Amino acid sequence: MSLSLIGRSIAVSATLKLNETAAILRDKGEPVIHLGGGEPKTKAPMDALIAAAGLINSGEVRYTPADGIPALKKAIIRYTEEYYKRMVAPENVIASSGAKQAIMVALQAILNPQEEVIFPAPYWVSYTEMVKLCGAIPVPVFAEDGTFHPRLEDIEKRVTSYTKAIIINSPNNPTGAFYSEKFIADIVEFCEKKDIYLIMDDIYHRLIFDGKRPINCYSYAKNLTETSKLIVINGVSKQYAMTGFRIGWAVANRKLISAMTNIQAHQTSGPSAITQVAAVAAINGVQSCVDSLVLTLENNRNIMMDRLNAFTGVKATKPDGTFYCFADFSVYDKSSTKLANMLLDKVRVAVVPGIEFGMEGYLRLSTCGTVKDITEGIERIKWALDPDSPNELYIGERKLVRDWL
Ligand SMILES: Cc1ncc(COP(=O)(O)O)c(C=O)c1O
Repeated sequence: MSLSLIGRSIAVSATLKLNETAAILRDKGEPVIHLGGGEPKTKAPMDALIAAAGLINSGEVRYTPADGIPALKKAIIRYTEEYYKRMVAPENVIASSGAKQAIMVALQAILNPQEEVIFPAPYWVSYTEMVKLCGAIPVPVFAEDGTFHPRLEDIEKRVTSYTKAIIINSPNNPTGAFYSEKFIADIVEFCEKKDIYLIMDDIYHRLIFDGKRPINCYSYAKNLTETSKLIVINGVSKQYAMTGFRIGWAVANRKLISAMTNIQAHQTSGPSAITQVAAVAAINGVQSCVDSLVLTLENNRNIMMDRLNAFTGVKATKPDGTFYCFADFSVYDKSSTKLANMLLDKVRVAVVPGIEFGMEGYLRLSTCGTVKDITEGIERIKWALDPDSPNELYIGERKLVRDWL
């Protein structure tokens, strides 16, 4: 079979693959604990469900405009005003089938083959593949000081005449790191000076802990006109626990939004009418669900950190937001893939290998499950790896005997 260069070069989505494997094992009755997930377990807001059901019941579910229904664009404009203190026009907004599609069409609208896109490492698994889908080159940048916080100097060193865009995701998947206000200010200024697109992937911007406030990139922009190359990405997936609804959006200059709309129109058309009305209801509805999600995630983060800190050899940095913790397990195995496979195989705990995010030796552990998932999951991992733990472990009625250490 002959496949295209792109068809051959795109890797499987590690996180989606893991979900699939975990689901197959669960269907077989295996007691899997999923610490690899990237979605809150709370229910979608009731307002969203009622709105979606209302449209379904009407029986009139039609195509929508390629850039989203006016009501959703209006809700996004209000959201942008509330959280970014910025007034934008409907022509500055596109609603897509998830933030993923919003990023993808933005990249397709700006990238030529061989151009480069820089992003800090570790990075969200899809950035590399999305850039490659455009025939362009992903350029991950590691912080030279070994932290999860990139410095402008680290990024600056990788900028070439081919650099077309920089993607910043804070708080970050997979580390949970919340970049400093100074870094955001510097990167906005730097991209303006260099005339580079800056894609702010703000999908987790409200999911931050310890009283921190979301950082507004527009506060540092000098150019707020239609020549601005700042693209802000957001969506309902994470903050409203609406991952399956597939609604995200981008706010950018009109010319770019128009090009993105043309691409989206031929690719998928407008997002689902049903989930757009649900997204409108979530954005305009009572926001206490977001506050309570943050409280739950912060508590889960604290429990995860307690357990990991009691784990000799594991180095974990406290996440400032999101529902991920990116911990260094290299003392147990240098290969994160081998380690993750072994944990699923031996103790039925699903975690994502760090290498998928560009950093070997680490595992991404997710805190979006229950407290029981976290405590039991870490206990099983500890039992599997720590030679000082007892030789036997019970999972329900099942007795496991450790014969691999
Ligand atoms: C950093 C980041 N950006 C974007 C997305 C995509 O979100 P959506 O579900 O809205 O497509 C994700 C989802 O995992 C993510 O982690």
